[in-house]
Amino acid sequence: MWAIEFEKVSKSFGTHRVLIDLDLQVRPGEKVTLIGPSGSGKTTVLRLAMTLEKPTAGDIRVFGDSIIFDAAGKPLSSSREARIRRRCGMVFQQFNLFPHLTVLQNLILAPTTVLGQSREQAEKSALDYLGMVGLQDKVYAYPAQLSGGQQQRIAIARALILKPEILLLDEITSALDPELAGEVLDVVRGVAHETKVTLLIVTHEMRFAREVSDRIAVFDAGRIIEQGSPDKIFSNPESERTRAFLHSVSNH
Ligand SMILES: Nc1ncnc2c1ncn2[C@@H]1O[C@H](COP(=O)(O)OP(=O)(O)OP(=O)(O)O)[C@@H](O)[C@H]1O
Ligand SMILES: [Mg+2]
Repeated sequence: MWAIEFEKVSKSFGTHRVLIDLDLQVRPGEKVTLIGPSGSGKTTVLRLAMTLEKPTAGDIRVFGDSIIFDAAGKPLSSSREARIRRRCGMVFQQFNLFPHLTVLQNLILAPTTVLGQSREQAEKSALDYLGMVGLQDKVYAYPAQLSGGQQQRIAIARALILKPEILLLDEITSALDPELAGEVLDVVRGVAHETKVTLLIVTHEMRFAREVSDRIAVFDAGRIIEQGSPDKIFSNPESERTRAFLHSVSNH
């Protein structure tokens, strides 16, 4: 069974076709990175997986369960959709921490309200995940007292504490200076190596993509034009457009 599967997914905004008949399958525990030019549809794929957008056509399944339709082929009710949404966690380019809450309060908010955990249970697990991202000493800090890299590491811990089966990471380092980006990427490497979570990553950091991914999918104008192992995509790409894209990012 696939962890996540897109079957003939199309997405249009008005007359603009952003994804065209997309087929994408990711195995449980696999780390797949989406690369490609700006506007090619990468973020839209992640937003569809989070049910933040609805496809215009096609189906998306998470561990075999459609996140679009119920068994009768009708659109999912909002309560079923809310349950299913929890199977995926997402971290965005902007850290989106609540500024008026401490790190600990940010971390325990969803576990206590959405999952109904006790405060004690949630705090214990918050400390575990803070350890995983190397920030146990920041437990009572407010987001404004942290660097961008630290805030992003907290955002990763906040996603992981809900134990998502699939973690979606959308350009989580693009708002950061290179040295802060490095510490965030180290945390993602750790997550990739130490947990079984399935990762769907969008990044412009090609070195990181090469290092952390089992597979790379190259997007162009709403389609996957090529996919394969990092070695194949970076050393021996088949498509002329993949070569052109890799050339354009290597000049930055
Ligand atoms: N809510 C929306 N309304 C209208 N158009 C949208 C919307 N969201 C995305 N688009 C358009 O869909 C296309 C794909 O956008 P998407 O954000 O998926 O690209 P991307 O590959 O993530 O690009 P980038 O690398 O710049 O982040 C773009 O042309 C974008 O302008
Ligand atoms: Mg994007």
